[in-house]
Amino acid sequence: MQINISNIKSFTSETEIKEFKQKAIKTNKLLHTKDGKGNDFLGWINLPNTITDNELSDIENTAKELQSKIDIMVVIGIGGSYLGAKAVIEALSDNFSMLKNEKNKPKVLFAGQNLSEDYLYELRELLKERSYALTIISKSGTTTEPAVAFRILRKDLEEKYGKEDAKKRIIAITDKEKGALKQLANENGYKTYIIPDDVGGRFSVLTPVGLFPIAIAGYDIKKIVEGAKNMAKETSNPNNIAETYAASRNILYNKNYTNEILVNYNPKLTFLAEWWKQLYGESEGKEGKGVFPASVSFTTDLHSMGQYIQDGKRNIFETVISVEKTKYKIVLEKNKANLDNLNYLAGKRIEEINKSAELGTTMAHKDGKVPIINISIPEINEYYLGELIYFFEKACGISGYILDVNPFDQPGVEAYKKNMFQILKKPGY
Ligand code: PA5
Repeated sequence: MQINISNIKSFTSETEIKEFKQKAIKTNKLLHTKDGKGNDFLGWINLPNTITDNELSDIENTAKELQSKIDIMVVIGIGGSYLGAKAVIEALSDNFSMLKNEKNKPKVLFAGQNLSEDYLYELRELLKERSYALTIISKSGTTTEPAVAFRILRKDLEEKYGKEDAKKRIIAITDKEKGALKQLANENGYKTYIIPDDVGGRFSVLTPVGLFPIAIAGYDIKKIVEGAKNMAKETSNPNNIAETYAASRNILYNKNYTNEILVNYNPKLTFLAEWWKQLYGESEGKEGKGVFPASVSFTTDLHSMGQYIQDGKRNIFETVISVEKTKYKIVLEKNKANLDNLNYLAGKRIEEINKSAELGTTMAHKDGKVPIINISIPEINEYYLGELIYFFEKACGISGYILDVNPFDQPGVEAYKKNMFQILKKPGY
């Protein structure tokens, strides 16, 4: 993958770019020497190198065993315990996979990522007619949303398959000792994977949290780790692309470009943006600081958010993820009658039109005074998603340190919980 910052140059100077790159080099070093804030949560830095082939094979084998007997895997989790897996699965899946039957490729559905009664009701109705299993993911083992969904879905599972068979259909991914989930898993003998102590939720895609659901969906987790490993190597030396990204967004933030929009031109990357928003929002949004992360999917959103980006308040910058190669090919044919006046496009691939839209939009947004950071990957596959995930994680740590916050805690998330628990009269609140 590559990064290009030529489209922010008219908003800054070479001196400033150098100055912020030096800051980024310094803060990247802090991550490696573990001398910065939140240094007990830096385990993610070495994950691609420390996860062993045996661990990966164990995940694959557990997945394989279940794949042949289920139509649906319900993954229960919220925040960092669901977004990474969802992002990768959506990126790799056929756009219409939900309507296609693929042998030994169960559909992965999610639960416990909201408190919607209707969502849960409709899911339970669906599961009545399908063969399924549950994966419950919670590092703390106490988060309300997944705990509530798990209590309900576990009972349904036990009623459908009997207690003994149900146990074989539940995978728990949690802390090595803390939390109610670990206790539940121990007592029932569920197959359990451990989330390392020093890896926070939103940095946990490269642990079983992300890798197990991805393996169940039928994708190559070893390739993901391989891509991440390559990026770990690339970003461990000074003057790397993660530093460039972190430095660039901080330059812009300091010039009052306080909103960053992650842009894609391929709807398969929509959920990658959701994962990215959590990563940056929860890591940097503290102490009254932080770039506000937003996202759009073009060209769809050129017909909704395009107007604002072109003409609205000038506090926005874009980070565009371009994918060089599509998986398939469609050429627009010439039509004799040409009643739709599209013959000027005859012989062109749809992707050529998409790329022209991308170029046209970049030019328009530049004219509209929107700074743009360009990131490109050759194609959407496991390897490049592994690279992208590690790249964004590394840049997030570097960027958070430049901003002088602790990127690895999330004290603000507790505020709503405290109120909700008081309202619900949870003992102790
Ligand atoms: O990134 C984080 O730490 C959070 O988003 C958590 O992943 C989220 O709150 C879920 O927590 P848990 O895995 O403990 O249920």
